[in-house]
Amino acid sequence: MTSLKFLGHACFQLTHDNVSILFDPFITDNPFKVAQLQDIQCNYILVSHGHFDHLGDAIELAKQNNATIISTAEIAGLCGKEGCQTHAMHIGGKHTFDFGYVRITPAFHGAGVEGGHACGFIINFFGRIIYFAGDTSLFGDMALLGRLEKIDYALLPIGDNFTMGPSDAVEAAAMLKPQTVIPMHYNTWPVIAQSPLEYKNTIEDRLNIPVNIVNPGETINL
Ligand code: NI
Ligand code: MN
Repeated sequence: MTSLKFLGHACFQLTHDNVSILFDPFITDNPFKVAQLQDIQCNYILVSHGHFDHLGDAIELAKQNNATIISTAEIAGLCGKEGCQTHAMHIGGKHTFDFGYVRITPAFHGAGVEGGHACGFIINFFGRIIYFAGDTSLFGDMALLGRLEKIDYALLPIGDNFTMGPSDAVEAAAMLKPQTVIPMHYNTWPVIAQSPLEYKNTIEDRLNIPVNIVNPGETINL
């Protein structure tokens, strides 16, 4: 069985049997406060960029779990210097791990680390294709990503202000053509307050793509 747990903001945990992957592990300072750092067990940590709400507790968690951080070369370099196991990749690159593959996608956003670039991930996790967009604006090459990969679940930011907002995220879904959309990166702070229900209704009316609103702390089966 494969499950996806939402830890609030842009932090997700994918688990299949005894293999677990964390995306953007913002735990300690996450206002949703649904997890304790010491309780989290994982094998891999995917970091989209260096902003505090994404790099988060990656370094401490990687050390605590002997987990491998998978990210761009710049973030991997930074974490490696802190003593973490890392696997450096970069935009456009794909690599196979024991769970499946990771493809690093572009994301239009600040890197949060010198000389770097923000990214997203498309991962094949035991046969499920998951697109984690990271922090990004809407961009036209999402159509290309939708052509390259048969996306089962698209995790898209809808908060606006720092990333695309709900109406742009409807356009994103239209290009990506996923089986299901899961919104993220909203309601963490007042500046990114959004109604996920309004987003769900719009997308389901216009595109006939189901939106699964996963609440912080909630786990769904994929
Ligand atoms: Ni950011
Ligand atoms: Mn962010």
